[in-house]
Amino acid sequence: MISASDAISSAAFRLLGESQAIQVVRERICKLASSAAPVAIYGESGSGKELAARDIHAHSPRASQPFIAVNCGAIPENLMEAEFFGYRRGAFTGANEERQGFFHAAHRGTLFLDEVAELPLAMQVKLLRAIQERRVRKLGAQREDVIDVRILSATHQNLASLVERGSFRQDLYFRLQVIALSLPPLRARREDIPLLCDAILRRHLPLIRKPVISAAAMDRLVAYDFPGNVRELENVLERALAFSVGTVIGPDDLYFESPIRHGVVDDASRGQPMISNQARPASTDLLRTSLPVSLPVHLAGVERELIQRALGQSRFNRTRAASLLGISLRQLRYRMQRLTIHDTD
Ligand SMILES: Nc1ncnc2c1ncn2[C@@H]1O[C@H](COP(=O)(O)OP(=O)(O)OP(=O)(O)O)[C@@H](O)[C@H]1O
Ligand SMILES: [Mg+2]
Repeated sequence: MISASDAISSAAFRLLGESQAIQVVRERICKLASSAAPVAIYGESGSGKELAARDIHAHSPRASQPFIAVNCGAIPENLMEAEFFGYRRGAFTGANEERQGFFHAAHRGTLFLDEVAELPLAMQVKLLRAIQERRVRKLGAQREDVIDVRILSATHQNLASLVERGSFRQDLYFRLQVIALSLPPLRARREDIPLLCDAILRRHLPLIRKPVISAAAMDRLVAYDFPGNVRELENVLERALAFSVGTVIGPDDLYFESPIRHGVVDDASRGQPMISNQARPASTDLLRTSLPVSLPVHLAGVERELIQRALGQSRFNRTRAASLLGISLRQLRYRMQRLTIHDTD
């Protein structure tokens, strides 16, 4: 007999894991998927908020309709209205043809407002109005269109404290979080780490070359705190694949993004500091470069290459690229501008 928990642990979810904590999340997703109420998804960076949003949509009656994900932190402020609401031809200089915005594109489906805390206040007012009235007027249009979208939102920030500080509108906050869904950090469900490792390695490599993670390496992985959660685990494994010789990933192939704090694997406390992930690849390559070099030109070249690799790896998701590089989205934008890197380079 299939129990309810078998059903929610089935392959019908993108959010993997067999821990109690993740099963509770999947159970909640099943329940809230059938309603049309807005859901605010909370969780640390890399904990699976976007996956949860996609799972909600996939389990909802809207599954066959569009799922439109909008990274609110990645849209220039002056384009926001046009991007969200669309425009008529001639609405402004450069509006050569009519275009639909995110609301129209998500009609009958789901609109996922990712990094919602990044919305400027002026845009928050306009969004609230559209969500409440269920109507959207394209820029330059006379009439409003009735729009039916389910709103999901996500942020790794504490929205309540942003409301207190005055940078997020309270009315929009209440509107978005009719239902709140919290994702547990990976360190609160360490038992899922082996299963996630398996899924990640399968995704990266064809079956025949499936590498094995040694027991010692797995001990390290399970003991690490993963401040960057599942995304950091993906990064750690990807790096390990690049550095491992042969098909076994050993403990020395693992480079973590912050120091290990747990007793069993805390090499630092035994006087053998672990090499940080940044230290090995970058410094050896740099030191091999023969002199003379122009240091600024050389560094700009390295920076450009790393940014382009991160953009490629994240399929041009700037938030993700910034996190792969350990910098903020703002810093990434600034650096891309300085080095004149465009998303499509
Ligand atoms: N439970 C999970 N099962 C499988 N993969 C997961 C899980 N949680 C996260 N991931 C993977 O980790 C990565 C980060 O997930 P996602 O983008 O959903 O996180 P996020 O919470 O939106 O992160 P951020 O706050 O940085 O935007 C993705 O590649 C995703 O596939
Ligand atoms: Mg996200």
